[in-house]
Amino acid sequence: MNTATIIDGKARAAELREQIAHAVSAFAMEVGRAPGLAVILVGEDPASQIYVRSKGRATAEAGMVSFEHRLDVTVSQVELLKLIETLNVDNRVDGILVQLPLPQHIDEDAVISCIDPSKDVDGFHVMNAGLLMVGKPGLVPCTPLGCLLLLKQHLGDLSGLEAVVIGRSNIVGKPMAQLLLAESCTVTIAHSRTRDLADVVRRADIIIAAAGRAEIVKSSWIKPGATVIDVGINRVTGESGKAKIVGDVEATAIEVASALTPVPGGVGPMTIAMLLRNALTAACARAGLPEIPLLARSDQTS
Ligand code: GUN
Repeated sequence: MNTATIIDGKARAAELREQIAHAVSAFAMEVGRAPGLAVILVGEDPASQIYVRSKGRATAEAGMVSFEHRLDVTVSQVELLKLIETLNVDNRVDGILVQLPLPQHIDEDAVISCIDPSKDVDGFHVMNAGLLMVGKPGLVPCTPLGCLLLLKQHLGDLSGLEAVVIGRSNIVGKPMAQLLLAESCTVTIAHSRTRDLADVVRRADIIIAAAGRAEIVKSSWIKPGATVIDVGINRVTGESGKAKIVGDVEATAIEVASALTPVPGGVGPMTIAMLLRNALTAACARAGLPEIPLLARSDQTS
């Protein structure tokens, strides 16, 4: 029986975080301060609280300064924008991240547009989205960047491969498609209105599942030998009645694919490593330093 190689995102992320920590020390020696990352959390959404705590811990572990701003769920949009404007002009702050989702009374687009694009470590600002689209250097969203590094580490050159991205969010699906296109893949974006998802998935050498729906991709659809990157983190009730986390791809994909990322322990840890990488990239650019080389040549995204 075929058993896919497990792409160990946790180990790769740990390696990257160590490299980043070294580069952070070099930055601090040169500039006289460590890079700073500000994270804003509005409200008390349990999942967001966990993410923000992990981001803060990882930032400190990499030797960067973490500025955490926790705001009440009732904070006004004006007040939130004022805080972002203060951080935009604070020289100790190289990166700003506003944890999403935001409460309903706050306009997400207005908040993202308010962040100085040079500090937009999420890569969500239209300026950075545009730079990615035209193939110019900018800050790239963390999750797709992490997926790309895992793919390149496993497959090397991606040129000419058929890639299917399932999901069209601004956070994952759309930037992922742009990154794969820049690697000369033939890219299809599938989504909730795609007529025959099975047929689209069947032709893929690379499958990026980012639909946010538990096991929506069936193993019978996967071309033998394909590489599967599972971005999904879905909480479901298992047969024993206990809650468990599953991806967007059926677990039996391991019997068909040549390689896949596990859930958990695949893409998730890479997202945080890429956030640190983006914070360092932003800090170097703001300090007028060339980016401290930290990714293997084969990992570069140009
Ligand atoms: N919420 C879920 N994923 C993300 C992310 O990558 N960045 C931010 N800011 N919020 C999120």
